[in-house]
Amino acid sequence: MTSASIDDTAAVRAGLLRPLPELDARFFYDDLGSELLEQITQLPEYYPTRTEIGILEVNADAIVAAAGAEELAELGSGAGRKIRLLLDAMRCAGQLKRCTMFDINASFLEASVQRRRDSYPQAEVSGVVGNFLDDLGCLGPGGRRMVMLLAGTIGNLDPARTTTFLRDIADRTGPDDSFLVGVDLVKSRELLEAAYDDAQGVTAKFNLNILTAVNRQFDTRFVVEDFEHHAFWDEAQSRIEMWLRAVRPTRWRMPGGGEPMELPAGGEIRTELSCKYTRSMLDSRAASAGLRVTGWWTDPQEWFALALIRGSGQ
Ligand code: AVI
Repeated sequence: MTSASIDDTAAVRAGLLRPLPELDARFFYDDLGSELLEQITQLPEYYPTRTEIGILEVNADAIVAAAGAEELAELGSGAGRKIRLLLDAMRCAGQLKRCTMFDINASFLEASVQRRRDSYPQAEVSGVVGNFLDDLGCLGPGGRRMVMLLAGTIGNLDPARTTTFLRDIADRTGPDDSFLVGVDLVKSRELLEAAYDDAQGVTAKFNLNILTAVNRQFDTRFVVEDFEHHAFWDEAQSRIEMWLRAVRPTRWRMPGGGEPMELPAGGEIRTELSCKYTRSMLDSRAASAGLRVTGWWTDPQEWFALALIRGSGQ
């Protein structure tokens, strides 16, 4: 077991004690979880990654021209190919001056920054260690900066966190700054549910691995074999929900001590939300944070979109 912070212990405990128990999706991303997500992005059913790359291949020049940015600030620095398409477009337009990489993992970040410096010697490349939900202020003052959050990651935030995050973006977006966000779009139940419950069972492994990751960090002793993967499209809330369902009665130790917690067969723990957008949903979310969607690029099937967002005064 690795040492867990008091804050994390309290948060995991509180999540498990909710009327509908939940585990925070950030615990997916131990080494195996990150590797499984990488595998998910290559699956035939998981369309978001290749669709977003396709949008960038066609539209990177137009996006860069619309943003007019000299700095690219990348929140979560794992999206090599996508970022290169934008950086190359900025370089071709003679606009590339700075690149800031923002990531929670300091050693991963150091290696990424060095690689980026080698590939783009004309740019000033720096790294910021932090969590984009709490530490956006570490980016410092902008000015012709395009902050970027790709892959549909904004969809993994619950509505309250999405609003807080967009307000934080708005507070830091000056007249020459912009925010480029990748959003997964509403589509048929069949396509959506297949993307989160693939035939090879990689997403199921990814979901179940959160229990192993939490066991390692909090000594919770979940019995992984007691659970199965469950993902479904909630049309009313416009989101995929991922849950772990107990296939038999099960129990685990609570982080921080006390009585073990029990779940009957059929009981569930929620592990992830993945919200899907329409243009008008994003427009109204942006507006309620004092922002405005000024650019919108999508694929021919309209499965995924890249939106350029600015302060509502711009
Ligand atoms: C990281 N995020 C955008 C993925 C998604 O599609 O919501 C995480 C994921 N969960 C299951 N498959 C992929």
